[in-house]
Amino acid sequence: MSAAAPAAPATDVQTHGNYIAGEWRPAKSGATFENRNPANVDDLIGHFAASGQEDVEAAVTAAAETAEAWRNTSAIARANILFKAADLLAARANDVGRELTREEGKTLKEGVGETTRAVQILRYFAGEAQQPSGEHYPSINPLTLLYTVREPLGVVATITPWNFPIAIPAWKIAPALAFGNTVVFKPASLTPLCAVRLTEALAEAGLPAGVLNLVTGSAGAVGDPLVRDHRVVGISFTGSNAVGGALRTIAAERGAKLQLELGGKNPAIVLADADLDQALSHVVNGAMMSTGQKCTATSRAIVDRRLVDQFTEQLTDRIKALRVGDPLQADTQIGPVISEDAAERITGEVADATKAGVPLLAGGHRLGDNGRGRGYFVAPTLFGNVDPTSRLGQEELFGPVLGVIPVDGLDEAIAVANAVRFGLSASLFTRDLGKALAFVRGIQAGIVHVNSETAGAEPQVPFGGMKGSSSYSREQGKAAREFFTQTKTVYIDVPPAS
Ligand code: UN1
Repeated sequence: MSAAAPAAPATDVQTHGNYIAGEWRPAKSGATFENRNPANVDDLIGHFAASGQEDVEAAVTAAAETAEAWRNTSAIARANILFKAADLLAARANDVGRELTREEGKTLKEGVGETTRAVQILRYFAGEAQQPSGEHYPSINPLTLLYTVREPLGVVATITPWNFPIAIPAWKIAPALAFGNTVVFKPASLTPLCAVRLTEALAEAGLPAGVLNLVTGSAGAVGDPLVRDHRVVGISFTGSNAVGGALRTIAAERGAKLQLELGGKNPAIVLADADLDQALSHVVNGAMMSTGQKCTATSRAIVDRRLVDQFTEQLTDRIKALRVGDPLQADTQIGPVISEDAAERITGEVADATKAGVPLLAGGHRLGDNGRGRGYFVAPTLFGNVDPTSRLGQEELFGPVLGVIPVDGLDEAIAVANAVRFGLSASLFTRDLGKALAFVRGIQAGIVHVNSETAGAEPQVPFGGMKGSSSYSREQGKAAREFFTQTKTVYIDVPPAS
């Protein structure tokens, strides 16, 4: 397989192996699994290694054997490899973005945009690798040289979700490598091609064999043995709260360092003085872009009662007007959800809420007409007058579903916004600076927006949630160094002059 080969046409379906110890190789068992386009299940994208314990073993061994050499490579040399990988990926951004759209289902604009974001993340961490690390301290003894250094953890596992199949792998793997760790990368089985493309760029950029190892396959057959391997010192995971909860136990039992990025039930609060048009467009985008499949997506519009009828009416119109279809078509705004299971789960939740009497204002059903019969299309869905304590008001549906919750003023809005187990992102729409600052102080969320949408994350700042949305650690920005390194405190004294 040539790493530089262009995207295969649908008739020439390729088989992609694991990347272990600098070699592309099939699973030891020879087993493979299929990857299909969620917009059209007849479009077979590729076959990928259905790996198992023995492949994980080989990958962790490769990462462990090279850890010492990689740690002793200069940070400048590591940075240069990341810069080169960024350039390679940038040159391929249109092709890779298209493949991303084909396997994940977000629109082409979003697919190319996400690939470009991965490029920026690689560049950011290449720069970050060259920043000062550690600190010099005064000592009780004026002659003692007292300082700290940040050292890599060693072998880390990065376990990544399907919804940002190239940006999230980049934002875990780039800092892991930049700060001197070796990596075993287990991507979501629904989006393995982006993982292959990112790995190819890093390998071609000159990453030494064994420093990054890609193992594709299921959570049970690959993820489980990976996180239980005692040689894996750190685990960075983005995904569901259910899996995150299991990882907490496994990591705690064997003393591994753990970083979790989990779900959200993110509120957008719209006050009576908000700019209506600005609030509407950010709420629609926050809720519906990427078909609502972001942990940062807006799923609750908490709206001042004085505005709620007018806001809801216009929101309904805008949501009904969204063009849902083949995400490779330029005029499509909303693609499919990721899988048949997801489509059934989401429409099942909608049916339950409707049965319970919640007013369904838009969508809620599968779309099978106009060439959408072979994909997992769900109409963008809006509920009015949602009880904030109901399942719809509390649980993450991870799809194109938004609920409006009427409130009386900012204090009630913040109280409602905070009364969930999650705390990832939150938005407020207002012109009132005092209210904005009160919101920033009172809201329980790791990422807080005033007059912009709940989704989105720039690479130079910390990313992560409060409460059930994370493990209190943060990714990206300077925070990434906290997770991917450990501190050594050094006291240096000299012998007395003889
Ligand atoms: C974004 O909002 O652009 O899995 C990033 C997720 C988050 C990343 C969101 N960890 O959706």
